[in-house]
Amino acid sequence: MNHFLDIQSLSLEEVRSLIERAMYFKHHPLAFPRYPQHIMVPLFYEKSTRTRVSFEVAAGHLGVPVIPFDTQQSSESKGEMIEDTFKTLMSMGCSVFVVRHVKERLPHALARQCVPGVHVINAGDGAHAHPSQALLDMMTILEQKPNLSQLKIAMVGDLRHSRVAASLQWLCALLGVGELALVAPTVWQPSVLHYGHVTTSLKEGLANADVVIGLRVQQERLLASEQMDLALYRREYALTREHLAFAKKEAMVMHPGPINRGIEIDSDVADGPQSFILEQVKNGVFMRMAILDALLSSV
Ligand code: NCD
Repeated sequence: MNHFLDIQSLSLEEVRSLIERAMYFKHHPLAFPRYPQHIMVPLFYEKSTRTRVSFEVAAGHLGVPVIPFDTQQSSESKGEMIEDTFKTLMSMGCSVFVVRHVKERLPHALARQCVPGVHVINAGDGAHAHPSQALLDMMTILEQKPNLSQLKIAMVGDLRHSRVAASLQWLCALLGVGELALVAPTVWQPSVLHYGHVTTSLKEGLANADVVIGLRVQQERLLASEQMDLALYRREYALTREHLAFAKKEAMVMHPGPINRGIEIDSDVADGPQSFILEQVKNGVFMRMAILDALLSSV
């Protein structure tokens, strides 16, 4: 593996080996490989807490030095193009770039500019892809419910703008998840469907679900025509205790974060016994370690 750009570029074998590697790291804290000869630069042009910090923690565990890079203070504010900033950092010997940007497929374009031995990781590009999130979500599911072909997963919320949902659709297809229900009001239904079926009915979507994944209402991405009354959204779609009763009794509750309590999810669900939200965050470190390890160990 040379770059990590989206789920659709990975083979089934690569996905399986990344998940296995992440699980191995989780249970073998003394067996971490070291890559001190590499330098990682997080290039985050969109806000982030979990993804950015977990890549940095992962790099720390693997002995990879991290150079902080403030995209607001860089020479791009003097008119430099991102491609030139990238080539400049590459010329200094920076060898792993973790990229988050509003522009779809920008990580792919940067990957094409790489000299051998330099790797690009997509940490979220517009509404296109967020592959490390999909993998850590799947790792969290597999730890609890390994029989994917028998599983029903329901994703609820702003599917139209969710790169997490797009990547998870590809992953469910690749791994043969039994059923994927995508639940959203009409204005937030996905514009392209890779896997699963779409419904506007929460009751129908959650019926018999083993896993319920909530998504944030991504206000910053909504066009005027896609605005929705949040009180109405809440009444029909929020993950409340009452709504969660539509799913199986032991259903897992997940959310990629950041969560907006009282909008798409209630505190008693987010903090309740069925919630795996913080386990997702924890697994995020191990999954990002597995991604870095797969890139840095390849010759
Ligand atoms: C998501 C993102 O940025 O795509 N968050 C994350 O990385 N865990 C989802 C979101 O912003 O709602």
